[in-house]
Amino acid sequence: MKTQVVGGSSAVHEAASLLQKGEVVALPTETVYGLAAKALDPAACAKIFEAKERPLSDPLIIHIPDIDWLDRLAKSSTLAKRLAQTFWPGPLTVVVERKDCVPDLVTAGQETVAIRMSAHPLFAKVLNTLGEPVAAPSANRFGRISPTTAHHVLEELGGRIPLILDGGPCAHGIESTIVLVVDDKLQILRPGPVTKEHLSGFAEILECESDILSPGRLKSHYAPQTPLEVHPSSTLKSWPRSHRKTGLLSWQHPLPGFQAVEILTASGNAAEAASRLYGAMRALDAAGMDLIVAEEPPDSGLGAAISDRLRKAAAR
Ligand code: TXA
Ligand code: MG
Repeated sequence: MKTQVVGGSSAVHEAASLLQKGEVVALPTETVYGLAAKALDPAACAKIFEAKERPLSDPLIIHIPDIDWLDRLAKSSTLAKRLAQTFWPGPLTVVVERKDCVPDLVTAGQETVAIRMSAHPLFAKVLNTLGEPVAAPSANRFGRISPTTAHHVLEELGGRIPLILDGGPCAHGIESTIVLVVDDKLQILRPGPVTKEHLSGFAEILECESDILSPGRLKSHYAPQTPLEVHPSSTLKSWPRSHRKTGLLSWQHPLPGFQAVEILTASGNAAEAASRLYGAMRALDAAGMDLIVAEEPPDSGLGAAISDRLRKAAAR
């Protein structure tokens, strides 16, 4: 199959019409690129699993055209509604009890469903043209780094999908925050752009003990091909010289002794670091290193989400 990459709003109708026919299409969101198919059409969603080589045990996030769809897909939750009114459209996914209309394939047979509303103008236009929700996981092959540009999507899924809608680089650069709504409390299943600090004003945040609930929390995820280790900056400052070609994924400053260096944010801005994270990982992965070492980010706010992705990239 030839994969077309098309830019701008002229392609919105083409994307919506392919989706309408039950095809998969890669779309930009404000977090990372997603691979979309009609959420209420199991045959269309099956193509997502096929293109990504994703196990059927890993449920999909449903992206809705407007907030009213929350009630159509999920059982009523006051807290979920308050979060939706505050953070949507935006990078927050709520996991709530599902209604029967949601296909089992989407929820991987679970009684909960993950829902969000994207703030990306092109994504929103496609959904409004289509007039119904889409399921959309990140547009990478399973277990690999999420794409933050149309070119990354082409590298991951070229030849497997008909269309990539190019909306330029994604603003946030890391995936949405996922929260499980448990009555009037929250559990953060995946840290992201909406931080614990943002959420703690809304509800008590429960600690997460179980990795079972969200397969996306599998320890190995977001992995480059090259082995990756995470170290505190103190260790990296006196990195031992060895025969191994080592690339540095630095938070802020360059350090001597590495064969390739990517700096996430020269100004120490965590949002900039997040937006550059996956592109920098891909660049180091392509640089032919034996090892990538990443500097540990600050562990608060958005730094926590970046830490989470680095730990997952390191666990394989
Ligand atoms: O920012 C994002 O969330 C991007 C963009 C495209 O929207 N999407 C994304 O989807 O990251 P994905 O599938 O790569 O990661 C979502 C994770 C999945 O790994 C899945 O395990 C988890 O969300 N998830 C989905 N439904 C769930 C549910 N009912 N309960 C718990 N976790 C769920
Ligand atoms: Mg993913």
